Amino acid sequence: MKNLLVTGGAGFIGANFVRYLLEESGFAGKVVNVDKLTYAGNLGSLEGVDKNFPDRYVFVKADITDEAAIEKILLDHEIDTICHLAAESHVDRSIEAPDDFIQTNVVGTFRLLELARRHKDKIKRFHHVSTDEVFGSLGEEGHFREDTPYHPNSPYSASKAASDHLVRAYHHTYGLPVTLSNCSNNYGPYQFPEKLIPLMIVNALEGKSLPIYGDGKNVRDWLYVRDHCRALWTILKQGRLGETYNIGGRSERSNLQVIDSLCAILDRIVPRKGGGHAELKTFVTDRLGHDRRYAIDFMKIQCELEWGPEESFETGLEKTVKWYLDHSEWVRQVQSGDYRDWMRRQYQL
Ligand code: NAD
Ligand code: DAU
Repeated sequence: MKNLLVTGGAGFIGANFVRYLLEESGFAGKVVNVDKLTYAGNLGSLEGVDKNFPDRYVFVKADITDEAAIEKILLDHEIDTICHLAAESHVDRSIEAPDDFIQTNVVGTFRLLELARRHKDKIKRFHHVSTDEVFGSLGEEGHFREDTPYHPNSPYSASKAASDHLVRAYHHTYGLPVTLSNCSNNYGPYQFPEKLIPLMIVNALEGKSLPIYGDGKNVRDWLYVRDHCRALWTILKQGRLGETYNIGGRSERSNLQVIDSLCAILDRIVPRKGGGHAELKTFVTDRLGHDRRYAIDFMKIQCELEWGPEESFETGLEKTVKWYLDHSEWVRQVQSGDYRDWMRRQYQL
């Protein structure tokens, strides 16, 4: 692996992954981060990276649907490996306005695959980062395995399922050297405060209500983002071409359990005058088509590639709360129009 193209490297998982690659993995090549910088892409999440790794890190603002721009990046930087994370990622947004999800997640992935096919002589691996939501919803029992049939229920998960199918088809039809991973819910530093955990932390700190969809008993399997980054790096190094790996945290929690744990941590670290943070909990109208339960069987990556989560949900959650407490400026920037001005000044964008 010489030079690695990371798509969506200014997003939550992407920024953590770019940092992991440069700071921890031992990877010696160049990391080229291509990102369109939607509302979810924040160069503030990569502050210091360009200065610390001036010869090994490059950022290019581009849309993955722009074939000419991406082709230029592949050639200019002699890319031999692609790790594809760029996506529209928020289920609620996909329910309100699915168009961008189809454009980026389906058409964008298709464009990248076409480019990889055109430059097949140079591309050694195309890794596609996907989600456990493609498998649909579980009842009280059972886990998603790699061979669980696809049953996506939201426009987001349907668009990710479509992209997974395209990636597999390019392997089967054209022999493109692909790997795929389907991961459960991530949490940790730099997550945009629209997703459950950062939204609850930010709202609780501001004394705002904590909106719980439906009865709050929907279950997700939570994984600390650094563990996901370790898994992606492990697959890039050793994953068998043409294979899919499920990634999970063995940390199933209902949304109510997650919120109660967060409130307990906040009560301890930043006690609230006049009552506990749990008093801010508010039941609201359920998400349309809300999947009930996700749970991941990650035996394959554990046995084959010796990967497993290192962070427990309790320690990961505490680290995450502290990170948000220490990074109120990052939160303010990503929530405000100031962020765009700051970015223009900082990066002449
Ligand atoms: P995110 O929304 O935080 O970041 C997505 C990034 O992609 C942003 O930086 C955005 O600017 C960029 N982007 C969007 N459209 C683009 C386009 N057309 N061209 C170039 N860049 C574009 O998402 P995330 O939570 O970091 O998720 C990253 C990937 O991991 C996604 O593919 C998602 O489906 C997958 N995933 C996420 C989770 C999770 O819990 N967050 C779990 C499993 C899989
Ligand atoms: O499972 C992996 C997926 O996890 C990723 O593919 C997605 O990109 C990521 O966004 C995430 O999807 P979810 O829909 O599970 O995450 P979200 O944080 O939006 O919601 C988690 C649970 O919390 C879900 O049951 C809905 C609920 N929820 C969410 C929000 C934002 C609430 O009850 N209240 C809220 O305000």
